[in-house]
Amino acid sequence: MELIIKETYDQLSLKAAEIVASVINNFVATPEHPKCTLGLPTGSTPLGMYKALIKMNQQGKVSFKNVITFNMDEYVGLDVNHPESYHSFMFNNFFNHIDIDKSNVHILNGNAPDLEKECNDYEKAIKEVGGIDLFVGGIGNDGHIAFNEPGSSLNSRTRCVKLTHDTIIANSRFFDFDLSKVPVRAVTVGIGTVTDAQRVMILVNGHAKARALHHAVEGGVSQMWPVTALQLHNHSTIIASEDACDELKVGTFRYYLDLNS
Ligand code: PGA
Repeated sequence: MELIIKETYDQLSLKAAEIVASVINNFVATPEHPKCTLGLPTGSTPLGMYKALIKMNQQGKVSFKNVITFNMDEYVGLDVNHPESYHSFMFNNFFNHIDIDKSNVHILNGNAPDLEKECNDYEKAIKEVGGIDLFVGGIGNDGHIAFNEPGSSLNSRTRCVKLTHDTIIANSRFFDFDLSKVPVRAVTVGIGTVTDAQRVMILVNGHAKARALHHAVEGGVSQMWPVTALQLHNHSTIIASEDACDELKVGTFRYYLDLNS
């Protein structure tokens, strides 16, 4: 697993955007896998990366015309037009500002009449386009990836889950800090869905994520810290801000700084 440490959030975001652009620009189409396919997250962490990618798109450095996307997750029972739905997030913060063909955008439908079918169809759709080239994600303070909370099987697939109390509290900041307004269920890709991608890139920003980053890099593989599944992936990259490294051993921190300087 590669760990790239950046001094600031802006540098982290730019590095992430450069990696996404290079995956798109170096993509070689085949009949079974005709378009570069990305897995994408919501959350505050990837916002800087999306801004940098929008700028690169406007400058002609990358195009999304031949890119397919699959988002990680969506709340269950929240109207897609609700400002806090992940549909709204993705279109407002990214898709409306780039040259992507909207028919290539996939986001789980948290209002589907049959959620199990919705999740199984999502897995099938990913397979049909030849899999995901790069899955980008963030992590929660508790080490979750997408809505795969601690205790999720490291082989889990797309499914409907219950949000933990911790996540409901964390996400209440988007719902007037009113816990009762936060949806209690979500549909999410599984950890196995993420680690099936050719490459996985996780962005970790800020001191609040320091404990999760410590487990991701220095801990053993454990379902109690879902992000540790990356240790078993043969091309995974974590990009972390310096303050997210506060719980790493000094030796570990210096080792990775040296490797990437
Ligand atoms: P954040 O969320 O980027 O808003 O911190 C990340 C996550 O919970 O996966």
